[in-house]
Amino acid sequence: MLDVTIVGGCGRVGLPLGLAFARCGLNVALYDIRDDAVHAVNAGRMPFIEPGAPEALAAARDDGLLSATLDPASVADTECVVVVIGTPIDEHHNPDLGAVDRAIEEISSHLRDGQLLVLRSTVYPGVTAVVEQQIARLGIDVDVAFCPERIAEGKALAEFAELPQIVAARSPRALERAAKLFSNLTHEIVYLEPEEAELAKLFTNAWRYVKFAAANQLFMMANDFGLDYERVRQAVIYNYPRAADLPGAGFAAGPCLFKDTMQLAAFNTNNFGLGQASVMINEGLPLYVVACLERSYDLAELTVGVLGMAFKGESDDNRSSLSYKLKRILRFKARDVLCTDPYVTVDRDLLPLEEVCRRADLLVIAAPHRIYADLVVDVPVVDIWNLRGDGVRV
Ligand SMILES: NC(=O)c1ccc[n+]([C@@H]2O[C@H](COP(=O)([O-])OP(=O)(O)OC[C@H]3O[C@@H](n4cnc5c(N)ncnc54)[C@H](O)[C@@H]3O)[C@@H](O)[C@H]2O)c1
Repeated sequence: MLDVTIVGGCGRVGLPLGLAFARCGLNVALYDIRDDAVHAVNAGRMPFIEPGAPEALAAARDDGLLSATLDPASVADTECVVVVIGTPIDEHHNPDLGAVDRAIEEISSHLRDGQLLVLRSTVYPGVTAVVEQQIARLGIDVDVAFCPERIAEGKALAEFAELPQIVAARSPRALERAAKLFSNLTHEIVYLEPEEAELAKLFTNAWRYVKFAAANQLFMMANDFGLDYERVRQAVIYNYPRAADLPGAGFAAGPCLFKDTMQLAAFNTNNFGLGQASVMINEGLPLYVVACLERSYDLAELTVGVLGMAFKGESDDNRSSLSYKLKRILRFKARDVLCTDPYVTVDRDLLPLEEVCRRADLLVIAAPHRIYADLVVDVPVVDIWNLRGDGVRV
C-alpha cells in the first residue's frame, strides 16, 4: 500500500512535492498523463530544472520510495491522493471551472473507501465544495481536503521544509488526516475553512502581482522623469523596514500570478480594479520598454537580441513569459530579432548566446539569468532588472 499518489505528479509542483514526501520516508507514486515526463522520472531524469531535485530523485529511487506511472489505477492502492494538475485560464482569461473535477472524474473508478483526497491545485473558489459533492455522488467514503501549494519554482525543495502548510477541510477527520500528511513536511500547520483557503491562495498570488505592478509603475514614472528607479529604490529601502519589500522593476509573468489574479477577478464578478490595473501595468511593460527604445534608436535599422526567454531567472519555464511578448513587439519594429536562453529547451527558434551577441546591435535582458550579469559585449545592454548593477534607465 502506497502512502501518497500524486495526480499531476510529474508537473512543476507535483514532482517536487513527491520528492519532498519521499525525503520524509513516504512511499509515493506520481500519476501523470505526460508519457515523456513519466519516462524521464523513471529513468532518474528530471523533466525540468529544480535545484536539489536531481539528487532528491536519485535518493528517492535508490530507497525505492518513488515511481511515476501513466496508469490511473495507481490511485486505488494508496492512502492519500493529492491532485495537483494545472489550472490555467483560457484565452479570454476565464478560469476553467471544471479542470479539477474532470481530472477526478477520470480517476473516480479507482477511488476507494477510507482514502484521503487532497486538492492541491490553485482553484477557483467553490471548487472544493464541487469536488465534495462529486465524491458524495460516487457514494464512496473519501475524506476531502484543500491544501494549497505556495512554493515558488526554483525554491521548491527548500520551501517545503520552511513554509507553513495551509490545511482546510469540512470534517474534523479530513482535517486531521490532511494535517498529519503535511506534518511530514513541516510542524507549522495553519487551519482554515476550504473557502478561506481557496481565497488565501489566490490572495497570496494576487498580492505579489500587485506589488510587482506597483514597482513597475514607479519604475516607469522615474524613468519618464529621467531618473534611475533603482537608485531611488535603494534609498527608499535602506534601513527602512516599512518599505523593505518594494520590488525592483522587471517582467512579472509566469504560469501563476497573472492567471490567479484573473481567477480572483472572475470570482468577484470582474470587479478587481487593483488586479486589473496590475495586469495593464505588468503586461504593458514590454511595450513600454520598446517605446523607450524607439526614442533612442532607429529600431528598423537594428538587430535586437533578447536575452532570456524563461519567465524568471535561472528557470527553464517559459510558460506565459513576457519575453515572448517583447519578441513579438520587436519583430514588428526591429530589422531582426534573435532570442536566446541557456535553460529553455522547448523553443526551436532559440540561438546560442554567442551567436546572438555577435549578430545583435542591441541586447535586452528579458529574463535575469545570472550569466548575463557579467556578459562582456560592445553593444548597449538594456537591463530593467539592474542585473548588471548599472541602473535601470531605458
Ligand atoms: N508552478 C508553480 O510554481 C506553482 C506554485 C504554486 C501553485 N501552483 C499551482 O499548482 C498547479 C499545478 O501547476 P504546475 O505548474 O505544476 O503545472 P504543470 O503543468 O507543470 O503540472 C501539471 C501536471 O499535471 C498533469 N496532468 C494534467 N491533467 C492531468 C490528469 N487529468 N491526470 C493526471 N495528470 C494530469 C500534466 O501532464 C502536468 O505534468 C496549478 O494549479 C498551479 O496554479 C503552481
